[in-house]
Amino acid sequence: MVVENFISYMGIMSRGIHIYANWKMHKICSSAKHFVEHFMPLVDTEEPGIGLAVPYTQIQIVSETVGDAKISVGAQNVSEYSSGAYTGEISTQMLFDVGATFTLVGHSERRHIFHESDEEINAKLRHAKDDAMRVVLCVGETEEQRKEGKTEEAIDRQLKSALNISSPYGLIIAYEPVWAIGTGEVATPEIANAAHKLIRDFLTERFSADEADSIPIIYGGSVKPENTKSLIDMPEIDGFLVGGASLAPKPFAEIVNIARNNGT
Ligand code: PGA
Repeated sequence: MVVENFISYMGIMSRGIHIYANWKMHKICSSAKHFVEHFMPLVDTEEPGIGLAVPYTQIQIVSETVGDAKISVGAQNVSEYSSGAYTGEISTQMLFDVGATFTLVGHSERRHIFHESDEEINAKLRHAKDDAMRVVLCVGETEEQRKEGKTEEAIDRQLKSALNISSPYGLIIAYEPVWAIGTGEVATPEIANAAHKLIRDFLTERFSADEADSIPIIYGGSVKPENTKSLIDMPEIDGFLVGGASLAPKPFAEIVNIARNNGT
């Protein structure tokens, strides 16, 4: 394990406010660089907790532009394999090589559009953790599951399978109800808080109290500057994973600043 990776890996252990951008399949290198240059003056870049999950091809330029600022740069997906004949796959070492320190795993678009199974998600998570790459694990119920009263069951199944691991260090959990992603329909603070509590209870049962307590649980799904305060005021919400509103520097910086000023 490379020493710098290990230090950055262990550095995530504290709770606190974590605000991550998920750019999905947007931007090119020039617009990514432009974003970072305009975003950095708007926030305190000495305070850790900001992450940018960007397309693979933009990782290097984004991490070079971020420089020494305390902004993590990461990927949106990673291979479960180290190297070999896996056409089109990207390994953890390739990500570290261009400046990434974390990856999303199990985003609902990977689960639903690309049919990633719970087993694959677990394999990716285990592999990334073995290589000391930090992971933002995404979980969340579909609209149908919520309507059928199966929210708890869906989240429980995803967590049980993905977290078949020995230690949760370096992990963040993102609760992202599928019905709220990219729809403009944000979960109410009460709904989000209740789901986060379910996740926290699961972690407390699954790991030691200290380990469970160290894992931030962030909310994703139509987060915007206008709904940031009411969500961050909830006791179980430790930050956000932001899609659409993270594509421009100003709204994303507003979300960061509102979340930090009101964080518990
Ligand atoms: P959204 O996406 O903020 O555009 O709803 C969130 C996500 O998919 O991570």
